[in-house]
This record gives sequence, structure tokens and C-alpha cells, in this order.
Amino acid sequence: MIDIIEIAGAMPHDAAAALERGDILLFRESGFALTGPECAMIEAGEAAVGLAKNISYDAATCEVKGTEMPPPGRDVLKNLMARYAVFARDLVHAVAPSYQPGLKQGRTSFRPAEIAGRETSWRKDDRRRHVDAFPSTPTQGARILRVFMNVDQAGTPRQWRVGPDFESYAKNFLPRAARLPPGAATLFALTGITKTRRSGYDQVMLGLHDAAKRDTAWQASAPARDVSFLPGQVWMVFTDQTPHAALAGRNALEQSFYVAPEVMTVPEQSPLAVLSRLTGRDLARVLV
Ligand code: SIN
Ligand code: FE
Repeated sequence: MIDIIEIAGAMPHDAAAALERGDILLFRESGFALTGPECAMIEAGEAAVGLAKNISYDAATCEVKGTEMPPPGRDVLKNLMARYAVFARDLVHAVAPSYQPGLKQGRTSFRPAEIAGRETSWRKDDRRRHVDAFPSTPTQGARILRVFMNVDQAGTPRQWRVGPDFESYAKNFLPRAARLPPGAATLFALTGITKTRRSGYDQVMLGLHDAAKRDTAWQASAPARDVSFLPGQVWMVFTDQTPHAALAGRNALEQSFYVAPEVMTVPEQSPLAVLSRLTGRDLARVLV
């Protein structure tokens, strides 16, 4: 089962190995403090107007997308996300210094909306357990590492349900993971449906994601652990490995990273290795 590893004080030398087992690292005292205007902006709830599920910030272009919030709130939010991007990167460096040569920073997001009660399609419903895999952004085996922080101002916990381990999840859903017809991945890449070419690995991961979210009986019965993350807490997890659902909560920050499979400390535990073993195919190389 997935463990929650609390980190307080000095960083344990095996923190990266814990992440790579699928465990969640929890920092109760992260040291990331919000300013008065940042707290007021979150409390006012203005960012959620307009409403995309996620407001995103791209550190490369300094652009915020997904909110119609006008200045000065917009600038307060942009500054908060820019600071969080740096904080999260420093935290990953501290947890896993060995990742640095293979670490790529992705988008930063702010998630203001309450999750409970939100209407959405089953495929987009993150209240159903899944491991992350996105139709338009193939990773070709790169890992998805995410750093979350609950920044709610009214004490609302962010409630997650996690589990079971990746191998059980994969074994359960592999028979139902749909394959693409020959030539489809090339067509997707050429027409811009995918940003880069979908590999066999990406296709299997998407198949698992969809099969898991569709299976309401499995959602209700698979071994699970419920975790509440309180305001001020930060947690880090490989969301391409650890089945997770976000059941309730609002106002979270999130920073995504892509980590090259070559810099893993235990490469045999990665989803790519597990799926290649279970399917008997080298999924990083297989084209679909
Ligand atoms: C998810 O990755 O499924 C959502 C996590 C969250 O927003 O807490
Ligand atoms: Fe997810």
C-alpha cells in the first residue's frame, strides 16, 4: 500500500527511493509562506471567475492562463505562482539531487474551485482514481512528478484517496487498455492532436487511465487509503505511478516536473519498466 512519508528537518537520503516506490512525501512545515495580499486574493475567490478548472502559469513566458481576474489580483496571483515554481524546484532538488540532469519543469497551476460536486465527464473526473496520462502530451516514458500545496484560507482540507500499488492497477486494467490502429499515432502528431509522437508507453498509460476511471466497481472496492492535506501542507508524488483521486477541497497550488527515466534511482520500479515487463514489449521503443 501507498505510504505517507513525513519529512521534518533534514532530508532523508532515501527520499527519492520512497517517491519511486510510489509513496507520498508530506511536508507539514514547508517554509513557503504566503504574503498578506496573496492570502487576501485567495480568500476573495476572484481567480475562479471565468472558470477553467486550472489556472496555469508558464515560467518560460511569465504568462497566466485560465482566469479572467483583472489586475491587481492577477499580478498577485502571477507573482505567487512564480514564487511557488521556484520553491517547488528547490524542493525537488533537495529531495532528489540526482534528478537534476534529467529534470524538466512543466506548468505551474492554481486550482481555486471546489472539487466536490463539480460536474464533469468521467474521463476528466479526478474524483475517480487514476494515474496521470494526458491525451495531447505524450511523455514517452518520462516521469510526472508533482508538488502540491493546499493554500486554502478557510481551513478546508484537500482530500485524496490513493492506492493500490501501480502493479496491481496495471495488471487489473492492461487487458482493457485499447490499442491504436496502425498509423494513428503518426497522424495525431502530424495534425497536432498530440504535441509529440505518442509511444506505446503513452498509449498503454492512457488506456489504463480510461479503464480505471470507467470502472465504478473497482473505484468502490480497490484497496484505498484516504489522506487529508491541510492548508499549509506540501506533498510530492509521482502521479504517473500512484493511483490517486482528489475527492474534495479547493485552493491548491501545483507544480509539474518531467523526469527522464535514466535518472531514476530504482528504474525497475518505474511504470515504463513495470508495463514493459507485464506486456513483454519494450514500450519506450514500440511505436503505435
Ligand atoms: C489529480 O491530479 O488528479 C488532481 C489532484 C488535485 O488537484 O489535488
Ligand atoms: Fe491526476
